[in-house]
Amino acid sequence: MGAASGLGRRRFLHSAAAVGVSAVGAMGLAGCNENKGPAGGGASGAGAAASGGGSGEHKVGGAGSVEVKPGQLDTHYGLWSSGHTGDARVIGIPSGRELLRIPCFVPDALIGWGLTNESKAVMGTKADGSLEYTVADTHHIHASYKDGIYDGKYAWINDKINARLARFRLDYMVCDKITKIPNIQGFHGIFPDKRDPVDPAINYTTRVFCGQEFHVPMPNKGKDLEDPTKYHCLFTCVDAETMDVRWQARIDGNCDLVATSFDGKLAASNQYNTENGVHFAEMMSAERDACLFFNIARIEQAIKDGKATTIGDSKVPVVDCTVEANKDPKTALSVRVSVPKNPHGVNATPDGKYFICSGKLSPTATVIELQKVLDWFDGKLDDIEKAIVAEPEIGLGPLHTTFDGRGNAYTTLFLDSQVVKWNIDTAIKKHAGDKALNPVVDRLDVMYQPGHINATQAETIEADGVWMAVGNKFSKDRFLPVGPMHPENDQLVDITGDKMILAHDNAVRPEPHDFVIFKRDWIHTKQVYALDDSPIAVKEPKATGVTREGKKVTVRMASIAPTYYPIEFNVKVGDEVTLILTNLDKVEDLTHGFALPEYNVQFLVNPLETKSVTFKIDKPGVFWFYCTNFCHALHLEMRGRMIVEA
Ligand code: CUA
Ligand code: CA
Repeated sequence: MGAASGLGRRRFLHSAAAVGVSAVGAMGLAGCNENKGPAGGGASGAGAAASGGGSGEHKVGGAGSVEVKPGQLDTHYGLWSSGHTGDARVIGIPSGRELLRIPCFVPDALIGWGLTNESKAVMGTKADGSLEYTVADTHHIHASYKDGIYDGKYAWINDKINARLARFRLDYMVCDKITKIPNIQGFHGIFPDKRDPVDPAINYTTRVFCGQEFHVPMPNKGKDLEDPTKYHCLFTCVDAETMDVRWQARIDGNCDLVATSFDGKLAASNQYNTENGVHFAEMMSAERDACLFFNIARIEQAIKDGKATTIGDSKVPVVDCTVEANKDPKTALSVRVSVPKNPHGVNATPDGKYFICSGKLSPTATVIELQKVLDWFDGKLDDIEKAIVAEPEIGLGPLHTTFDGRGNAYTTLFLDSQVVKWNIDTAIKKHAGDKALNPVVDRLDVMYQPGHINATQAETIEADGVWMAVGNKFSKDRFLPVGPMHPENDQLVDITGDKMILAHDNAVRPEPHDFVIFKRDWIHTKQVYALDDSPIAVKEPKATGVTREGKKVTVRMASIAPTYYPIEFNVKVGDEVTLILTNLDKVEDLTHGFALPEYNVQFLVNPLETKSVTFKIDKPGVFWFYCTNFCHALHLEMRGRMIVEA
């Protein structure tokens, strides 16, 4: 590694970025020489001070070893988005080992996602039965809350390309629902609420908020293409349980990331295009953009009071959260707090007090006090800009912020290729007048160009400040070369001490965006399905066999290692076969596969799981179906014949 090469690369990127930005007339990026903390990097110093540790263990600091020895388990789960791979990943922390990929929006050949009837019903199909969409871009993943921490029930993830929200059941770690959000494009940020804004008994997640990044004419029917006043974005509320879209709010400008308050009263999105620009340069013309706050209780009351419209064919109620319609604090549904030039990221502090927006094109973070925003809605704050309680200069290209639960914030600096650790209270005191204070505590070089960042439990009230993961968008020289396509680099950092300590590099397939990390005992997964989870389960070998209604044939099958029931069946050319397979093995880890040559069929059935596929018989022959998933000493013999007479 070596700090020298890192600095050289940063200088190169500074100049490259400055040229790119100035070319479109934006403000310069220079001027952040203030607050340069000690250079980070290297597992020296604090690493050596780590307690205990036998020889051969990679002790790096108070967090302990990143090495998870053979037979040991990781201490934390990480839920990762996958970017345009289109799914989610489960990562063990601190090892960085990938434990599972959970498909949702796009097909997955391993488990047969997108092939089985059950997965197609979740994904959505066209009239001809083919999948509506086969690509996706997953960015943000967040879990459901109860009393301010994760309850282990659900996680949600967005698809930016096709405007869909998927939900994962965390007990089986499968996708169980996908909702298409009407009338939006560039669906980017999501965040579940953490409790109800009105009913104190509802101390858990019941809504998921979704931000639209790309504004479009509404309705988007090919008209009003050059009239910016007709372009809008919607902020959408989805019901966490039913996954129905509850309501939408029409806004000026756009939404980027989304955050929610711990008291359930406020949701917000940072806005980089308050200019409502349709073209690149217009989106960077204003010196300050905004963080847009939504008063959830008021919006839902307005809908009850009938103050909603609809857009196009959608039946979803839409309220007016445009600036002009919400100037009076007594009735406003939303309010903008200004944030410098094209901000990225908005993150809630674990003490529930602040939202922090990153400047992106400004070397600053903006700290907004939530009580003051509520005071403005209550008519007790004359100027909403007074909700800004700090705006420290922290470095170039700030994007996302995480927390250690000890009052410190950690922000990724994309252009500096650093993480900067800064103290929130010190920044607030400095903003209040004590200019001699320096909120920056430490800087750490990361490799390279970090985007998202998250520390253990940092999005909950139990942020514990142990490990922090940094998602680096470029890995460059950190791994063996594998041709033009480089892996990305997720780095793990020990944040138990004053100085951040780089602990581990982990190559990842592009390109995860966001992640959450939490103690392993916050979720309890089930390793065996219940037979009754499927209404069409084949409950015993005696229930197997072929039934026919005209050309529609149902083949009921079961698997018990190392055989299928039945081991052969007959069908005819022209039949439409629905094959139902229940795995009657109830032993943990005893998964079978089912592949059928020439008919493009392959899927897995986990213990006591049932799946079905439907296909047309279009050619005669003997077709050996077989088990694809190693299950038994006689796994290779686990096969049978589908016979189609000529
Ligand atoms: Cu069953 Cu391999
Ligand atoms: Ca802007």
